[in-house]
Amino acid sequence: MNQERWTAVDNYVSEVFALSDPVVDAAIEAGVAAGLPQIQVSAPQGKLLHLLARSVGARSILEIGTLAGYSTIWLARALPANGRLVTLEFDQKHAEVARANLARAGFADRVEVKVGRAQDTLPRLAGDGGGSPFDFIFIDADKTGYPDYFGWALKLSHKGTMIVADNVVRSGEVANAASDDANVQAVRRYNQLVAAEPRVSATVMQTVGSKGYDGFTIALVN
Ligand code: SAH
Ligand code: DHB
Ligand code: MG
Repeated sequence: MNQERWTAVDNYVSEVFALSDPVVDAAIEAGVAAGLPQIQVSAPQGKLLHLLARSVGARSILEIGTLAGYSTIWLARALPANGRLVTLEFDQKHAEVARANLARAGFADRVEVKVGRAQDTLPRLAGDGGGSPFDFIFIDADKTGYPDYFGWALKLSHKGTMIVADNVVRSGEVANAASDDANVQAVRRYNQLVAAEPRVSATVMQTVGSKGYDGFTIALVN
């Protein structure tokens, strides 16, 4: 098996399941045009996030790490008409591209892009006092922040909330306890925290595709 084959299958899946449309394609194009890194989830992964969010009946979604808003659009499409999504982005330029993409996708009213380090905006979310915890949380920002983000995700969740984290397999390096890569050690720590947390049930699903060999940690709050 190789990268070329994995990408070909992602392209096949995208075609058969009609995972590309003018709205998501334009979001990617805008990211390319603005020189943003092309590290968004693949189309099949975006659809998976959408299906998971719908499966838990998500009415409120939190995303940590917006980029151009590609995964955000897949998640926002899972919301009912009165749903809401908050997405956290450190980079002002990424946030601007995302806002334009989300507006073009018709979500300007339901999606809020909060600019700042998630480490700073998460405590404010918790303090917003809305008392409306999130039904679905997608963690996809800086990997070294993941252990802290899990703590915040727990605080902002309730029974039935699903917490999904991207990029936790890292070409299999996650199984290398001796890795000197800070990102690998951070996702190892993240998995360890999730696994040891009695308030959630969880697993890791390995994935291959156009983004290489990686995976998601999927946790459900008991
Ligand atoms: N979820 C997106 C991809 C996100 S890429 C998608 O799949 O479409 C990760 C993003 O997290 C980048 O835009 C980066 O600027 C942002 N980021 C990195 N560190 C951050 C931090 N500490 N707080 C908030 N956002 C951060
Ligand atoms: C990177 C970040 C991601 O969230 C991802 O899915 C792939 C790559 C990165 O920072 O390189
Ligand atoms: Mg990612």
